[in-house]
Amino acid sequence: NKRVLTGITTSGTPHLGNYAGAIRPAINASREENVDAFFFLADYHALIKCDDPMRVARSRLEIAATWLAAGLDTDKVTFYRQSDIPEIPELSWILTCLTPKGLMNRAHAYKASVDQNVAKNVEPDDGVNMGLFSYPILMAADILMFNANKVPVGRDQIQHLEMARDIAQRFNHQYGAGRDYFTLPEVHIEEEVATLPGLDGRKMSKSYNNTIPLFEGGSKLLKAAIARIQTDSRLPGEPKDPDESHLFTIYRAFAGQEEVAAFRQQLLDGMGWGDAKQALGDLLENTLAPMRERYNELMSRPDQIEEILQEGAQKARREATPFMNEIRQAVGLRNAL
Ligand code: TYM
Repeated sequence: NKRVLTGITTSGTPHLGNYAGAIRPAINASREENVDAFFFLADYHALIKCDDPMRVARSRLEIAATWLAAGLDTDKVTFYRQSDIPEIPELSWILTCLTPKGLMNRAHAYKASVDQNVAKNVEPDDGVNMGLFSYPILMAADILMFNANKVPVGRDQIQHLEMARDIAQRFNHQYGAGRDYFTLPEVHIEEEVATLPGLDGRKMSKSYNNTIPLFEGGSKLLKAAIARIQTDSRLPGEPKDPDESHLFTIYRAFAGQEEVAAFRQQLLDGMGWGDAKQALGDLLENTLAPMRERYNELMSRPDQIEEILQEGAQKARREATPFMNEIRQAVGLRNAL
């Protein structure tokens, strides 16, 4: 069977970008025949940028409820918390010892922090913790631990996938002695939604504060966010260029082909931005409302989510524990006690 795996960092409230870029394609992939799926809450990753324990716990609950509300089938998918699988940080250390520092120097997230510091005229590594620096190694451990073939993600994760492949190859080469311990994972990107834009047209991202929340805040907050989407200054009656409009890009990510074609034509014909926002609002409300109802119900029963995650952790560890022992032996360590 093919293995599909993906995770979301539990440091914020899930937004439309997480859903369109990762959750929806992942759930679709998990429904295919002959697929084993592994979806998880990346709470160790959250510690890199979030030192508020309440925030991490709250976000973990929100993201778990989001996956379940979006239709994840817990009978079919192994759904777990990263921090329930101690083999993951263990593998991460072993991989750390064979990853060249130079590879991590090139990671986009780290380089972006350095560039910002240089622009501000402070020490290049100011505010950079070792978690941020070696973040791609922990992510490689997430993926390689379960020998994933296919990893559905947004475009911002492509480089991390390349690094995971690089690290897997190094391990296989160094310790394999004819055996490929790790499968080389492939990135799975849905072109149209690989980078969903946010309110200001940049990538929708917690760090840009330009997100449209998926369920939190209900239809009221959804409408309020849509009202804040930036548009150009063309007046009603003037033709709009759909391909220059991130409002259109967001619409396209949630509508069927015919609806998209009709909306495109309406913009070309001079639909006003107010009406366009109304149309996007209706589309999103119709799509999200049934899921939001399930989400709210799940959020009111955290113990039920906890039970699901603990079962998921057991399933995941049935796989991780024996495999980790093989890895320990390969590098010359004894089996775990
Ligand atoms: P994170 O938590 O930042 O984002 C979760 C997923 O959502 C996608 N995404 C987007 N897709 C399209 N448009 C956007 N505007 C947008 N914003 C976010 C991301 O690409 C991602 O797929 N390092 C990862 C989490 C992770 C992981 C893994 C993923 C940890 N281990 C192993 C896959 C496999 C992250 O921080 O994603």
